[in-house]
Formats: sequence, C-alpha cells, structure tokens
Amino acid sequence: MRTEQPKTIYLKDYKAPDYWVDETQLTFELFEDHALVHSRLALRLNSDLHGDGALPALTLHGQELALLKVVLDERELGEGDYQVDDDSLSLQPADATFALALTTRIEPQNNTALEGLYKSGSMFCTQCEAEGFRKITYYLDRPDVMSRFTTTVIAERERYPVLLSNGNPIASGEHEGGRHWVSWEDPFPKPAYLFALVAGDLCLLQDSFTTMSGREIDLRIYVEPENRTQCDHAMDSLKRSMRWDEEVYGREYDLDIFMIVAVNDFNMGAMENKGLNIFNSSCVLAHQDTATDMAFQRVEAVVAHEYFHNWSGNRVTCRDWFQLSLKEGFTVFRDSEFSADMNSRTVKRIEDVTFLRANQFAEDAGPMAHPVRPDSFIEISNFYTLTVYEKGAEVVRMLHTLLGEEGFRKGTDLYFERHDGQAVTCDDFIKALEDANGADFSQFKRWYSQAGTPRLSVTSEYDASRCEYRLHFNQVCPPTPGQPDKLPQVIPVRMALLDRDGKEMTLRLNGEALGTEAVVSITEAEQTLVFENVPTCPLPSLLRGFSAPVKLSYPYSRDDRVFLAKHDPDGFNRWEAAQGLAVDVLQGLVDIHRAGRPLNLDQRLVDVMRSVITDSELDAAMVAEIIRLPSEAYLVEVAEVADVDAIHFAREWLRRALAVALRDDMAARYQALAAAGAGEFSPSASAMADRSLKNSLLGYLMLTGEQEVLNWCVRQFVEASNMTDRQAALVALVNSPFEQQREAALADFAERWAAYPLVMDQWFSVQAMASQPGALERVQKLMEHPLFTMRNPNKVRALIGAFVNQNLANFHAIDGSGYAFLADRIIELDRSNPQIASRLVTPLSRWRKFDDERQALMREQLSRILAEKLSPDVYEVVSKSLA
Ligand code: ARG
Ligand code: ZN
Repeated sequence: MRTEQPKTIYLKDYKAPDYWVDETQLTFELFEDHALVHSRLALRLNSDLHGDGALPALTLHGQELALLKVVLDERELGEGDYQVDDDSLSLQPADATFALALTTRIEPQNNTALEGLYKSGSMFCTQCEAEGFRKITYYLDRPDVMSRFTTTVIAERERYPVLLSNGNPIASGEHEGGRHWVSWEDPFPKPAYLFALVAGDLCLLQDSFTTMSGREIDLRIYVEPENRTQCDHAMDSLKRSMRWDEEVYGREYDLDIFMIVAVNDFNMGAMENKGLNIFNSSCVLAHQDTATDMAFQRVEAVVAHEYFHNWSGNRVTCRDWFQLSLKEGFTVFRDSEFSADMNSRTVKRIEDVTFLRANQFAEDAGPMAHPVRPDSFIEISNFYTLTVYEKGAEVVRMLHTLLGEEGFRKGTDLYFERHDGQAVTCDDFIKALEDANGADFSQFKRWYSQAGTPRLSVTSEYDASRCEYRLHFNQVCPPTPGQPDKLPQVIPVRMALLDRDGKEMTLRLNGEALGTEAVVSITEAEQTLVFENVPTCPLPSLLRGFSAPVKLSYPYSRDDRVFLAKHDPDGFNRWEAAQGLAVDVLQGLVDIHRAGRPLNLDQRLVDVMRSVITDSELDAAMVAEIIRLPSEAYLVEVAEVADVDAIHFAREWLRRALAVALRDDMAARYQALAAAGAGEFSPSASAMADRSLKNSLLGYLMLTGEQEVLNWCVRQFVEASNMTDRQAALVALVNSPFEQQREAALADFAERWAAYPLVMDQWFSVQAMASQPGALERVQKLMEHPLFTMRNPNKVRALIGAFVNQNLANFHAIDGSGYAFLADRIIELDRSNPQIASRLVTPLSRWRKFDDERQALMREQLSRILAEKLSPDVYEVVSKSLA
C-alpha cells in the first residue's frame, strides 16, 4: 500500500546489474500458517560495469518478507551488517564472488494479491511475473539476471502428495512427521519471473510427444481430481502446438518433461514458467458438457501461447520490462497464426481485428495510451495491456507481411540463434530481422516508440483519358499523453483494384506489373500512388486482412460497400465491407434517433444479410461473423462523443428490424442447422461454425417475440447436447421479455451446474450483461449469492467485469449509480488484490468519450478513489485518468 507518492521508472535509466546470480538453490518448507524459504545464491560481480574491482553494495529486491537469517560466505550477519527497508535488502560484499544464504518467512495463506507464493483452495502455487518473486525471497528480481535454479519443496505428504517446480525431478524422500520432499533442477538459466512451484493433491493426465529429433517428452496436465475428465482438449492442443512450432519455426522442446497445472484463483490467463506452466483453470478445462466452443478455442490458443513462450520468452527473454512486447507481441502473433492454421484463417483474423478495434483502439485513444515499448511506468503490472500484447502482435504481423513468410523465418532463425540464453530488447529482434534480410526498419521502428492509432485517409481519382488511377494517402497519428507530435509510420497496405464485375485488375505501378494483389508501403504523411493501364474506374479493396493497425477511411458509398460485401474475392474485406455498411447504418440511426425522428431500415443491409444467410456455400462461421452487428463498445469507440443510450437503442432497434425483415430466411436456416446438429456432438471446426451461426440466428429470431420461436429456444435449452447450445439459449432467454421462461431457465441452470465454478461464471456473466433496466440491482443481489466471492478473479470478471464492460446502457445509467458501484468495488478490491482492482478502472478511465454530465459523474468517482490510500497499481491508472 502507498505510503508516499509512487515512483516512476524510466527506460532511459536502464543500467545493467552490479552483480550476477550464477546459481540459485531454494528450499521451501510449507506449512499451513507460514512457509520458510531458504535460498543460497552464488553471486558474481558484473565486471563489465566494475572493471576496477571496486565492490558496490549489493541491493536485493524484497517485499512483505520477514528476514530470519543472512549468511555471507558462511558467516552469519548481525542486524548491523545489512540494511532492510520496505522493498530491499542491502549489504556490502567483501569479494567479487561470494555466496549468500538467506531465510525468509512468508504467509502464503494470507496472500490475497495472488502474486508470489499463495494458496488457491488447498494447493500452493506461484505467480512471479513480473515482480512477484521478490515476495518469496530477497533477490535480483529483474529479467536480465538469469540463473540456474535448483528447488527443493518440503510439505506434508498427506495434503500435498504432488510437489512440483521447474525443470527435471532429481531426488525425493521422506522426512519425519509425515512430511516428504522433492528436488527439481532446471538446467536452463532463467530470470526469477519464470520460477514456479506447486504443491497439492492433484491428479494427472499424462501423454507423450516425440520431437523432430526423436526425443520423447513426458507431458503432464495436473488438475484437481474432479476435473480429470476435462483435460483432453488441452493435451491435444499442447501436442499440436509442439508440432506446429517445429514445422513453422523449427523450434524443438528442450526439457524431458512439460507440465501444466490448473489453478482456480489466478489473476490472468496463464504463465509460461519454464517446464511448469501454471494456468487459470478457465484456460485448461474444456468438456462439451461444461465449456462453450469459444472456451475450447481459448484453451487451444492459451495452451499454444504459453508453450510458444518456451522459445519466444524463455530461451530468449526480455532485458527489462519495457521490452515486454518482445516476448508478448511476438508470442501473440505466433499463437494467432497457430489458431488460424488449426481453424478458419479468415474467421480468426476477423475475431482478432474486431477485438483490437473495439478495445486496443480505445486504449490508444485514452489516458493510459502508451507505445508498444513504453518509456515509463509506475507499476509494470499495469502494462500487460492490449497495446503491448495485441498491438504488439500487429506490429510483428506487419514485419511478417513486409518480409514475406520466408524472409520472416530467416529473421526469426537468426534471432533465436543469436540470442539463445540472453535477455534482449525489441531493437535486437528488429536487428536480427534486418540482418537476415538486408532490410532497413529504422522508420518502421516508430511503431515501437509512438503511441496512438494512425488514421489513414484515402481518396482516389480516375483519369479515363490516360487510363490512370490515383490513390492519395494521408496519415495522421493523433497526440497521446506525453507525445504531442508524431512522425509518419510505415503502413503496409495490402490491396487490389476491382472492376465492375468484382474481378481483380492487374496492378501496374511505376511501369512494374505487380499481379492482382500487392502490398504497398505508405511511408509519408502524404503520398500518391499512380496505377497505370487501368481500363475502367475501379473500386479499391484496401487494407486486406487488416494489414496494418490503423483507422482507414475511404469515401465508400453504401452501394460500394454492398458491392464489396458481395463481390470482393478477399473474404476478410467482404466481411469488412458488410461491417462498414452496418456501422454506417447504425451511425445514421443514432443521429436520427437523437433528432427525435422515426427510424427506418436500409434495405441494402437487409439484402446483404439475406444473401449470406441463404448462401449455403459460404462457411457458416463467416456468415455468423457477417450478420453480427458491430458491438456497442465499438460504436462508442468510433463515435466522436458517444451517446450510449442512443447507441443501445439504435442497435437493438436494428437487430429487431433485421429479425423481422429476415424472419423466414433466418428461421429456415436455423431449423436446418438445428436438424443437422442434432444427435452426436461433434467438436470439428465445421460443427462449431454451424453452432455459431445457428445460435446467432436464434438470438435474432427471439427478438421477434413469437411464441413459436420461444418454443424452439426453450427446447434448445432443455435438449442441448453441449454447453454452446445451452448457453446460447440461456442468453437469448435472459435477454427476452419472457420473464417466466427466463427465470425458470436461470434457476434450472444454477441448480444443475452449481458444482462447476467455470459454468457458474457464465451464469453470472449472462445476467450481468442482460441489458434490461435493473441490471445493477441484479448484479448487487448476485454478489450475495453463496457461490460468488470477490476473492476469486474469475468471479470478479464474470460478474463485475461483465457488467461494467459489456452492459454499457446500464453501467452508464445517467443517475451515476453504475459509476459509484464500480468505484466502491475498486476501493474494496484494492485492499486484497491491486492487480484486479486496477484492471477494473478501465471503463471509468474512458470518461472523455461521453457527454458532459456523464464526464462529471465519472470524474467524481475517479476523484473519490484517488482520495483513498491506494496501491501503486490503482494509483497509477486513476491519477493518469484524471490528468
Ligand atoms: N506472461 C504471461 C502471458 O503469457 C502473463 C503474465 C501476466 N502478468 C501480470 N502481472 N499481469 O501472457
Ligand atoms: Zn504471454
């Protein structure tokens, strides 16, 4: 907790450490009311910094520790021989190499921040990234200090039969009094943030994988006994990830054993600790009875993400936390390409882009906007952001686009070879890509240092007499905190020109034939491309596959968008055109509603929707994406000043109008899909696609209010063979006016799934997101439900997070009740779990987007929070939001 103003840390102040830790030997004695941590460190002066042999003081990080013993080179130190304060231990070494042995006492059972060593239910587990290891023992807790770890865990055998740490098990044995021990050795030097320990009564799913060089790896997923039947999908995803990383990046696994442990109380998704990944159970467990298809895909993606970190993160790690995107941006890019290869590439891209635009663009436009490589922070936990992760992945994707598949691979090969075993920077990554390809990315690197989303405005002219088509590009990046002026960035634009039949024309630029699709690099603030030999005036298909994370504008008419939605040979841009049409229509409706005039339905949107719903050739998942209207969050993001009530009204009005207009086509397709999906459950991509479309149609059809549709919905809820269908029916019922059926379904669901925390999370979320008036009261009542607890991050996200992020109409209620409610929760949570509290500030931080009245109400709540005694986490986000 804050005693004084928290300090800002700057990238420009980076200094290598004074000492290295060559060896780290840890022994944990675990008890119910405390744990003893004995460490023995082999330290060595960093002679690059201190060649003259003068010995600086050694300062180790440490927080919330009771220091019991300090032994320097076999001599026990007295209290006068070292200094301890709130976050460090300092002492004066006498030699350039020396051994330091420490004993600290900690209380994992009272660790509610879930950082360091803590208890989740009856098991012990750790989360050390970014700076959690310092809550275990005093250490050089910084990623550029890499050490070989040996770990011994001692605990009561009865309660904790399974004792795990990084690397390979090397010895085990019994102690008196029913206690036992296991020792683990990790041969790969690693920073402390990759340390992990688990102790518990766990059961195990075991399998094996043979690597490309023929080594057999022991694969283990540890879960609590009742979850043993829900691990197959994670194991299968793991094996596919291992194969994929060999095939696509030439990366082989390096230890003999790879373990995943599922824990219920976890601040994020998962953690890539060397050889011992620790996961939020929501990212491991998946069975058709209890998990939706979306959850299956998330498990696949997160398992892959953490596995891929073994190379992009662990073998090559970050020099300092400003370089976080070095491992996270690259690894998100890797996992999204993996998912694209395992599922539909176009649909995966649509999902990622939708997410980025609704969320990361908003971050880039808000008070916490920061570059992919930030220049400063108060609390690093606040920088595990959409910008570092998702925009960082887009930046790597652009490098991939610019270099091509082969060039990119040459670059990553060089990167892994050159930096194996090192802690490096984003510049080192770029340098390897440059050196392997003879490329120059000096201007491109602005993507790492400039915050904000560039706007790329494009206009065109056709000169029939010269058969020339000119595209004018203009790029502007708006100011962000601390960065008033921006320089032009390299924007790769994948594009084609379409003729009147929707056929791609051959592109000729500066006398060079480029084929029918090209990637052009926009590098100037103003730039014109002149296409030659263009026989008729084309319609441009721009930024295909969202080839750069920018806000593109081109003066398409609604008719142009209809044409592209039907004819663009590029699937992504077909979706993009339909989406653009829907945004345009919705923005029009918002304006009409605000002007107090009656709304009317643009038949062109109906036509586009009808044409895809009735097209049985088109991938059903694509149809589902095309008919999904842009989210309220995205409409808020693209609005100058967002009128949440009007946005909600217009969007609901349009959904209902489309449902009425397309009732028969939707019903026919729904019935066909329901019939085709009846019977045995299938986890295949095409079965998932069918369910996705079917359930999206059901959501629309329920808006007609027809008794017949209600019957279908209730029937689907009761008879569903899987959670995807059951949950979709529940969502449709909960959002419907059929009160009796809604309450019956909720009660039935709760009774049936009370023993399944992850299923109950969905039950909480569905209600938190329901947009009828009175949602806040419902949420407040649900907080008293016996299965709800503020101590479990998944529950907080499921109920509070869902309400404040996904129920805009209710959260932004003009009486300010939603804001006050959230501020109370933030203040309350900050005392137990600052990381989770800090995440919850986001919706309040976006106050500038709203009308004056709401702005004042939101600021009032931010000020109320700021008046409290706060963690650095919440202090940073709230104070920057008000700045
Ligand atoms: N490295 C983890 C991942 O795979 C996330 C760690 C998040 N840590 C935090 N303090 N939020 O993305
Ligand atoms: Zn990661």
